[in-house]
Amino acid sequence: MPADRPIKVLEVGSKSYHDQDTYRGLFPSPAYSYSGLDIEAGNNVDIVPANPFIWNEIKNNSFDICVSGQTFEHNPYFWITFAEIARVLTPGGMALIVAPGGGPVHRYPVDCWRFYPDSWAALCAVTGMELVESYFETDDMAATVTGGGWRDSAVITRKPQLKGSQLTTFHKRLDELVGLFKKENMPLQRAPLEPGKWITAYREEMQKTFPMTLSKAIHRKIRKPKAIHN
Ligand SMILES: C[S@@+](CC[C@H](N)C(=O)[O-])C[C@H]1O[C@@H](n2cnc3c(N)ncnc32)[C@H](O)[C@@H]1O
Repeated sequence: MPADRPIKVLEVGSKSYHDQDTYRGLFPSPAYSYSGLDIEAGNNVDIVPANPFIWNEIKNNSFDICVSGQTFEHNPYFWITFAEIARVLTPGGMALIVAPGGGPVHRYPVDCWRFYPDSWAALCAVTGMELVESYFETDDMAATVTGGGWRDSAVITRKPQLKGSQLTTFHKRLDELVGLFKKENMPLQRAPLEPGKWITAYREEMQKTFPMTLSKAIHRKIRKPKAIHN
């Protein structure tokens, strides 16, 4: 980390909504210089990229740390954002990304994905980032901690300490990965939540085959989930 200037921090999905926190407080000045990026302007947002997926406003190698919480699930094209994080981090720079592996539909402005430890391994492989550690909320934490039902998953990842032609090659590869998103404006598209005729027919069929009484439904809701992640 630099000794001669503040540590530069980028938060991705930084907008603050009523009771929800941001990571800004963890990075006080003058030791840190914090910037919040979001696709919507608002409280705690410094950068709203013109293209939400390609950050033309940010130069290569310009942030030492990147943090992102509860945002990747809302990003239809999260692998492109992961590639942009890889591009804008300094060589040796670190990112912490936290996103749920469970929980109900919650749209900001869309809700597309959930994440598991191997999700992060795939993202590191495709971008060339180093996977330092990854995590998936344990059953015990999920059962006991407030908000544990979101089954948060996380990665600590590092941009390789490259320079010269090796760093150029790293960036060229990222450029190929995000190429389509540079040429086209990709939509943020919502799917209808109301069932149509096919889903209605499926539900009716399931109800006939496996009639769900109220007591069964309650039992299912409260039973302890089986360990599936180790
Ligand atoms: C659930 S909020 C999380 C806000 C805050 N970080 C927190 O933890 O409470 C998700 C945020 O991600 C933003 N977002 C959605 N898609 C994004 C994208 N592609 N790039 C950056 N931010 C995005 C949304 O606008 C929203 O502000």
